[in-house]
Amino acid sequence: MTTPPNPLQDVPSHIHTLLNRLHAESLAQETALPADAFQASNFHEVMRDKFIALDQDKCHFIYQLCRSINAKTIVEAGTSYGVSTIYLALAVAANVAATGGKGTVVGTEYEANKAEQARAYWRECGGVVEDLIDLREGDLRETLKEDVAEVDLLLLDIWTPMALPTLQLIQPKMRYGAIVIADNTVKSGVKYKELLDYLRAPQSGFTNLTLPYSNGLEMSVYLPQGQ
Ligand SMILES: C[S@@+](CC[C@H](N)C(=O)[O-])C[C@H]1O[C@@H](n2cnc3c(N)ncnc32)[C@H](O)[C@@H]1O
Repeated sequence: MTTPPNPLQDVPSHIHTLLNRLHAESLAQETALPADAFQASNFHEVMRDKFIALDQDKCHFIYQLCRSINAKTIVEAGTSYGVSTIYLALAVAANVAATGGKGTVVGTEYEANKAEQARAYWRECGGVVEDLIDLREGDLRETLKEDVAEVDLLLLDIWTPMALPTLQLIQPKMRYGAIVIADNTVKSGVKYKELLDYLRAPQSGFTNLTLPYSNGLEMSVYLPQGQ
């Protein structure tokens, strides 16, 4: 069997090794979760030390997408231990190296222990990752209010009640053609109802497509009329 192509071909091997290890740890944690973990009354307690990292194939797709639109400002709603953030930072670093300018990935995390460990993983990757991430600790409804440049891509990998408030906070900063990615939109379609209704409303300014990744991955493009 041939190995599927990996868009991160120029990335140093120690970063690949770290990413593979972190994805494996995340998957092992998720496999061990009880079936009702996402509905449980102690949800926040249970999730306090869980990765819940974005699946690796989705990370590869988003990396590829970020390269194709030359994304240099990315907002990530839900950073956890910073796995998907590494892909975003690598894409922004490659875009800056190729076409110049500056780049930032704005991460968001309200669990202090996760933020601290995420920073350690980014340090392990090196400056190509660490130097590009602006991690905002605390509730993203506060931390994203200020100082966000024009946004090329918004990744919504967050508990579902936060998805629409985050989009509404970031939308005024989004450039024409900016992309919004939301994870698990098929499996959690009911919980995402408000977000999906908002994105899919006539005149919303978004075109929408549900990609057939595991549990669904919504890709929306911001194309407001009159701009
Ligand atoms: C699905 S995980 C993110 C996984 C991450 N994107 C990755 O691939 O490694 C969602 C994270 O969002 C954080 N979170 C949830 N609500 C938040 C809020 N209001 N402000 C900041 N972080 C929040 C949770 O603590 C959790 O770590």
